[in-house]
Amino acid sequence: MLAKPAVQFSEFKSNNWEHEVLSDASQDAPAAERSVNTSRRYFLIGATSVAAGVGVVGAAIPFVKYWNPSAKAKAAGAPVTVDISKLAVGEMLTVAWRGKPIFILRRDSQTVAALEENQLDLADPNSDLPQQPEYAKNLTRSTRPEIGLYLGICTHLGCSPKLVEADNFEDGQGGFFCPCHGSKFDLAGRVGSGYPAPTNLEVPPYRYDSDTVITIGLEGAA
Ligand code: FES
Repeated sequence: MLAKPAVQFSEFKSNNWEHEVLSDASQDAPAAERSVNTSRRYFLIGATSVAAGVGVVGAAIPFVKYWNPSAKAKAAGAPVTVDISKLAVGEMLTVAWRGKPIFILRRDSQTVAALEENQLDLADPNSDLPQQPEYAKNLTRSTRPEIGLYLGICTHLGCSPKLVEADNFEDGQGGFFCPCHGSKFDLAGRVGSGYPAPTNLEVPPYRYDSDTVITIGLEGAA
């Protein structure tokens, strides 16, 4: 079982992720005021995106809202298309799909390398359990190593884990921390062994429509 050092939470304190996303003032902040990439710091910048259209995440919040699928469409599982062109290295964005948060993060090369080294003390380091589509059954649990998509729902009792900047694991790597009962996940959504959460975070089905556009809820060729 991993040691449990004090975690450092990101800016987001509430467990109400939708509120956090929709009220995220960092979208309007000048780039220089946003802490990006200098300390491998991942944080939430996102907003609910679109179905049947591509929303620019960030400055185009009104546009995104306009194109939001209806509640009925969301409940029915309408695919969600996300433009990640503005997602810088070290940033994370959250979008809603089927009423649940999907974390999308762009990892730096150091983080990807650390995921490889961090094989110990993980409950399912090789993703043997069916918590991801076949194309995400790899080290980073993603189609592209630098871009990870994970269902932001703890596999214990369903709380939404929080992104932590560092100290999630013994090597100081960031990851996801579930405030309800203390489960820890690395930046590929792999749970540490001995925590309440029994399995890794789920990876939703998704596909790349282009280099910078992802549709969650659809698979295969665009
Ligand atoms: S719900 Fe996450 S640890 Fe219990």
